[in-house]
Amino acid sequence: METAKYNLQGKTVVITGSARGIGFAIAEAFAAQNAHVVIVDLARESVDKAVQSLTGKGYSASGQVGDVTSGEVMEALFAAVVAECGGIDCLVNNAGITRDNLLLRMKQEEWDLVIRINLSGTFVCTQKVFRHMMKARGGSIINIASVIGIMGNAGQANYAASKGGIIAFTKSCAKEFASRGVRVNAIAPGFIETEMTATLPEEVVASYAKAIPLQKMGTPADVARLCLFLAADDSAYITGQTIAIDGGLTMH
Ligand code: NAI
Repeated sequence: METAKYNLQGKTVVITGSARGIGFAIAEAFAAQNAHVVIVDLARESVDKAVQSLTGKGYSASGQVGDVTSGEVMEALFAAVVAECGGIDCLVNNAGITRDNLLLRMKQEEWDLVIRINLSGTFVCTQKVFRHMMKARGGSIINIASVIGIMGNAGQANYAASKGGIIAFTKSCAKEFASRGVRVNAIAPGFIETEMTATLPEEVVASYAKAIPLQKMGTPADVARLCLFLAADDSAYITGQTIAIDGGLTMH
């Protein structure tokens, strides 16, 4: 599919958890629009590999190793990006994990880890990047939530709480940051074809598809295209929203 052209040339976009999966697809989409992308992930090797695969295509990309849960690390990381690139125009809070279990069996560690990485990590990165965006009087923050944060799901109480928390957090930040010219929105992807879902048996995928009005799973590129729109001035009057990209699975 032909990607729409957005005026993102020369913009700096930081994407957390972008060495693979949806985050990498988002990075690739921004790079293809001539933005400078900063890959952020946990391991040096995977960050370098992701950066090389973008620069190998002639795109502008650099990498930073960082754990989104550490305020100290993320503060230094954003400062380094600003020193190198002159500012940060867009942050995509994409890093996230699952630790599924039925509630009766859920260990406290499983609860704590998912809340810490998904929800507290989004708080840490948003707070640290906002200082820079506030000074520049502009920016777009995009939080990757999930339809599970809207609908809930058996076996995913921790994940649902973290993603529902991200949606509420998005609205509060949008209200706080609006007067500073910074917009904050969330994306709630539904079933997206990734390495994780590739291992699902065919009949399971077929049963999921039946519940989706558009009767198919989405792709990381679908999510990435929405990120481009929410980062660009084309969405200048949109803030505090959660946009589901789920083939119609959830409707308000
Ligand atoms: P993934 O597991 O393929 O990629 C997540 C990346 O985040 C990995 O590279 C991982 O190393 C990194 N990461 C994990 N913890 C981190 C931390 N503390 N600091 C920095 N980086 C960290 O996941 P996927 O499927 O690409 O998902 C990306 C986002 O999209 C997540 O927030 C997920 O919850 C959300 N999502 C995914 C859906 C799907 O169907 N795959 C559906 C709805 C939402």
